[in-house]
Amino acid sequence: MTVVINMRDGVDERGIKIAAGFILEGKLVAFPTETVYGLGADALNARAVKRIFEAKGRPPDNPLIVHIADFSDLGRLARDVPREARLLAERFWPGPLTMVLPRDENVPDVTTGGLDTVAVRMPAHPIALALIRASTPVAAPSANISGKPSPTLAEHVIDDFYGRIECIIDGGETKIGVESTVIDLSSERPTLLRPGGLPLEEIEKVIGGIEIHPAVRGKLVDVARSPGMKYKHYSPNAQVVVVEGKRENVRRKIAELVHEYRADGLTVGVMATEEYDADEFFHLGSTEEEVARNLFRALRELDKRGVDIIIAEGIEERGLGFAVMNRLRKAAGYRIVWA
Ligand code: TXA
Ligand code: MG
Repeated sequence: MTVVINMRDGVDERGIKIAAGFILEGKLVAFPTETVYGLGADALNARAVKRIFEAKGRPPDNPLIVHIADFSDLGRLARDVPREARLLAERFWPGPLTMVLPRDENVPDVTTGGLDTVAVRMPAHPIALALIRASTPVAAPSANISGKPSPTLAEHVIDDFYGRIECIIDGGETKIGVESTVIDLSSERPTLLRPGGLPLEEIEKVIGGIEIHPAVRGKLVDVARSPGMKYKHYSPNAQVVVVEGKRENVRRKIAELVHEYRADGLTVGVMATEEYDADEFFHLGSTEEEVARNLFRALRELDKRGVDIIIAEGIEERGLGFAVMNRLRKAAGYRIVWA
């Protein structure tokens, strides 16, 4: 049975008590963060964490992020907290930044996928923070079946997990809509492993230049450092195609593609920042913040409306656009049309 707790109007202490009780008993609780919903379990309880992998169908070598509510919790999880990590935590926590650090032996192997590092973040969401404070550090991947778009509404979590986990906290729509930025601070050079809700430019203002792991750009080379990079991601059932290039060209190309696919008898959905004539259309908004917030919801919704193919308009790669384009290209399996 799944208990759904409504906290759309804010933190409810009774509800938090119930959810924290589940976590402490080794059960699974889905909860909102400022990025996407997480599927949480006690990060230090190996059996509980194992259930996350089973519920999601997640490959066991893809490690989880441990969520904390106080900087002092870091001492129990990381063996060493380098200067850059302190600076970044001071500036950006709570917030959409995950840091990979040398792991303390307290953290079980299942949580880190057997790596000698641990990923940690302090989420900027009152429900997430209350839940962690009332229980323990919480390991939580995004609360979607492995390979599906991440959930930005409790309905998405219900679609994927109702009846299969103990508790879902409904905190309404998540604010940022793409997952946290992941940077590795465990080796000599700070390295970006996943662009996300905190723009790279912001991080560089604090600690200077950051290397970008080649897999971020879709090159499948050395994936040992962040095994998550090698798996299929964010895919709805429909085939996704991304159209990138100069704005005017993109506009013309999308219209052309809609026409061609329809002529082939396919039902075509378009997700874009301006209106298109197609079988189904999802308006992503006009700023990069709006596009990030609506991205995963658009993929899930166009799927529900039964389209065969989704044509997605590419946006500029700066700010949140870096995370947006990273997710879109993956969702498309790198099927990119240059206009
Ligand atoms: O915004 C977020 O980060 C959300 C919310 C719930 O906090 N969580 C999330 O978790 O997106 P997940 O599991 O979907 O993505 C975690 C990413 C994966 O790409 C994983 O490979 C990487 O972080 N990761 C985790 N631990 C790591 C480690 N020790 N070394 C390198 N990469 C790691
Ligand atoms: Mg995920």
